[in-house]
Amino acid sequence: MEYFHYCNNVLWAEEIPLPEIASRFGMPCYIYSRAAIEHQWRAFDQAFEEHPHQICYAVKANSNLAVLDILARLGSGFDIVSVGELERVLAAGGDPGRIVFSGVGKRTDEMERALAVGIACFNVESEAELLRLNEIAGKLGQRAPVSLRVNPDVDARTHPYIATGLRDNKFGIEIDQALAVYARAVTLPHIDILGVDCHIGSQLTSLSPFLAALERVLALVDQLAKRGIEVRHIDLGGGLGIIYRDEAPPSPQQYAAALREKLAGRDLEIWIEPGRAIVGNGGVLLTRIEYLKQAPQKNFAIVDAAMNDLLRPALYDAWQEIIPVTVDATREALLFDVVGPVCETGDFLGKQRQLAIEAGDLLVVRAAGAYGFTMSSNYNSRPRAAEIMVDGAEAHLVRERETVESLYEGESTLPR
Ligand code: LLP
Repeated sequence: MEYFHYCNNVLWAEEIPLPEIASRFGMPCYIYSRAAIEHQWRAFDQAFEEHPHQICYAVKANSNLAVLDILARLGSGFDIVSVGELERVLAAGGDPGRIVFSGVGKRTDEMERALAVGIACFNVESEAELLRLNEIAGKLGQRAPVSLRVNPDVDARTHPYIATGLRDNKFGIEIDQALAVYARAVTLPHIDILGVDCHIGSQLTSLSPFLAALERVLALVDQLAKRGIEVRHIDLGGGLGIIYRDEAPPSPQQYAAALREKLAGRDLEIWIEPGRAIVGNGGVLLTRIEYLKQAPQKNFAIVDAAMNDLLRPALYDAWQEIIPVTVDATREALLFDVVGPVCETGDFLGKQRQLAIEAGDLLVVRAAGAYGFTMSSNYNSRPRAAEIMVDGAEAHLVRERETVESLYEGESTLPR
């Protein structure tokens, strides 16, 4: 089912026409569909069928409290990478007992807080981190639940900035060294070994890298068992891609079925950390055209959203579909570069798009639910956009548009 759909040539989110949202909440804004997000989470959950599993939504993809709330109500787990994300999950009502903590640079205070609230597992990325965690857990009189994140040296065949499972990436422990680090870990008095973790990259559009990583992880699990180290779960990270343009990623059903098949007959829980695949297509960025401008070789549509609102096109040269909110078949379509007001040549949302538009029109950038708002900034002193959650025929403001004053609230001039 399409949660963002045209009805009489006007784009709707669930049961609300987008022009209504524009006039009520102003521009630009992110709009999410509750039903779309729930549908995707359930697709993963149901696809694992009876195999014991845990879906730990990767908070970095979209950390709005309303998104976390919706997922917490479904019983989701959460993958966090900072104490900031931890506090968000708790504030939204998430269960600390379903939180996994990933990331290469966990600070002492972050470990302390995570231990205090009783998270499910630390995905430890180095021996130095393991030793620090052991020490801190000891001081608190606790044992820290741990998986080691191993780097299986698998090519995820994705954009180099978001590939994480190759030997020369900063993430995880090289798989050849993992046995030795596990052997060390079991001697530490304040560490409880629960599992093996890996995450090889993001926006993967085929199953083979996942399966190659899983095979290597399972070989490690077998080697560990020979040494008397039994793990209860494997965490395969996130990474399942979505459709932005013409990709054909596996569905959550195909993905889960392939993993289940490899795990058949083993007494191992499967944990995963999907982010993009849960929220990516459940959100759009709504923006208004301020001006049309003709340069000798090009037409520009200058809109009121920019790279500070949606960084992916500028940072990764990512292609995201741009469509008009109101379709007018009588107009002529031309090629436009859709650009923002920020003072950078790299400030574009899309290039060479066929559009039949006029100044004042509304446009939507699709598939903006993941790594959209969370990567936004205040560059050029631009207040960040409002976020709206559509739920059937209702639209809730789930993050106010920032005010200009709030941008320099914590700053001061020098004493006079
Ligand atoms: N687990 C770990 C340890 C991760 O590092 C990530 C993403 C995920 C899970 C979730 O991956 P997903 O299912 O969303 O692919 N900003 C980039 C994506 C960076 C992903 C970083 N790690 C983008 O906009 O494409």
